[in-house]
Amino acid sequence: MNDIVPALREIADRKGSFYLSELAENVDEAYKQHKAHFFDLDLYCTREGNDYHLRKISVESLGRIGDISELLPGKLPANVEAAIESYIKSKFGRGWNRGDSGQRLREAVMRQKERYWSAAAGKYSALDMAAYLLYHFPVYFCQFQYLLYDLLAGGLLKNKICMADIGAGPGTITLAAMDFFSRLAGTGNKGNPVPILLKIVSVERSEEAIGCYRHLTSELGTPNVLIEEPRRESVLSMKSDLPTDVDLVVFSNVLSELGDNQASRARAVTSLLKNANSNVTVMLIEPADRTNSTRLRATQGMLMRKGFTLYSPCTMIWGRACQPDNCWSFEDFGSIEAPGFMKKIAGAGEPYKYMNTDMKASYAILRKDGTVKRPYRAMRTKFMPLSQLSKNTGKVVNIAVAIMSSNIGDELDLLYKICDGSTPVPCYLAAPRHHLSGSRKDILRAGYGDIVEVYCTLVRYNKKHNAYNMLVTGSTEVRLVV
Ligand SMILES: C[S@@+](CC[C@H](N)C(=O)[O-])C[C@H]1O[C@@H](n2cnc3c(N)ncnc32)[C@H](O)[C@@H]1O
Repeated sequence: MNDIVPALREIADRKGSFYLSELAENVDEAYKQHKAHFFDLDLYCTREGNDYHLRKISVESLGRIGDISELLPGKLPANVEAAIESYIKSKFGRGWNRGDSGQRLREAVMRQKERYWSAAAGKYSALDMAAYLLYHFPVYFCQFQYLLYDLLAGGLLKNKICMADIGAGPGTITLAAMDFFSRLAGTGNKGNPVPILLKIVSVERSEEAIGCYRHLTSELGTPNVLIEEPRRESVLSMKSDLPTDVDLVVFSNVLSELGDNQASRARAVTSLLKNANSNVTVMLIEPADRTNSTRLRATQGMLMRKGFTLYSPCTMIWGRACQPDNCWSFEDFGSIEAPGFMKKIAGAGEPYKYMNTDMKASYAILRKDGTVKRPYRAMRTKFMPLSQLSKNTGKVVNIAVAIMSSNIGDELDLLYKICDGSTPVPCYLAAPRHHLSGSRKDILRAGYGDIVEVYCTLVRYNKKHNAYNMLVTGSTEVRLVV
């Protein structure tokens, strides 16, 4: 078949909207051969009858398009669930969850759970891949969509996105993005989809994971998503470069596999981004346990010293970079419904061991251009930085802080981790339920990372934990800022 790319470019510029049959007789063949160019030519494609309708989009921010909170997932989509089961069947047969294979898979899940939380994981086998899909995949898939939603709500996503999935594994992030943007496209008015073009490049060192990535992405591919062949490389010694127009670079649960040498973890990020535009968004996501979470913050701190700024979750309320090296903070996104395959493998004996439905993750979203989610600064005339608490124990003060946890107390005595970026000493907001009336109810409305101004709170030092508790009393006033 002739190369019709120059003609595609010319007609796209001239007409903006056209049919593939205007350029080729065999439209299906032309589509197959040239669809990889649609992304670069800004062409959005829809199947119409026996033809393909191509429209040149103008690349712009997706902005904040109405209420799309239904995009937040409570479970894996049925087609993703089916694709995962089809992959597992291809490796372990139709009765994969029964007999020997079921037993081997359950053992693999248990082994992976233990190893995963304690030390760097090694190479993957087919058994490891399947165990990962059965246990870890659903939660990681769904929590990433919450983070995408956050980027969308913050106006950081365009209708043409080049995403890099680093340490892609089976394609958790790739598939979550494909599903998110296809559902977002479906939120258009009167049945007209919002045209969105997505290109995904990925880096992965494990051949087995790449095989799984290929299987799952080929089952779920859609016309306006261009999935490049995964690059089989180590992020610690990349030979190829990411596209210079990459918009979003995601490291999901991969830093934990790079060990705890902070310099090499940070280098893995910076070397991949050396040619990226200044408006690139970098997302680092790690498990919420203390070891992986604090290591993530240390990597975040090192990247901030190298010139990245933190978009979210934290706000540098006093305008100075924080010292996050020992900070343990994660977001609780709630839980998902267990997918059918998880229930199938759980079986009868101690099924809870195979259930993984709580979405809790530590993450850092970084930018190169200084954009932050909450551009808030405290006024010295009104508030006291938390770094001054040691001189004010027992006194009543005003503070401006970010809420950095969900309630870690109990129903009667609520406790939230708080931070203003001024001190590495742990600080908490202690709010007895019986005081939560009037403006103090704002504490309950604050989400993870949101900023509250707290007036007239009592400073208490907790010697045992070398921490400060800021006590909410009947005289305290609270204002939720952002
Ligand atoms: C825990 S899995 C995470 C997969 C996926 N990103 C997710 O969040 O579900 C970690 C993946 O990172 C890959 N990985 C680990 N070290 C790597 C390296 N140095 N270079 C490239 N990939 C790496 C592993 O092979 C594995 O597939």
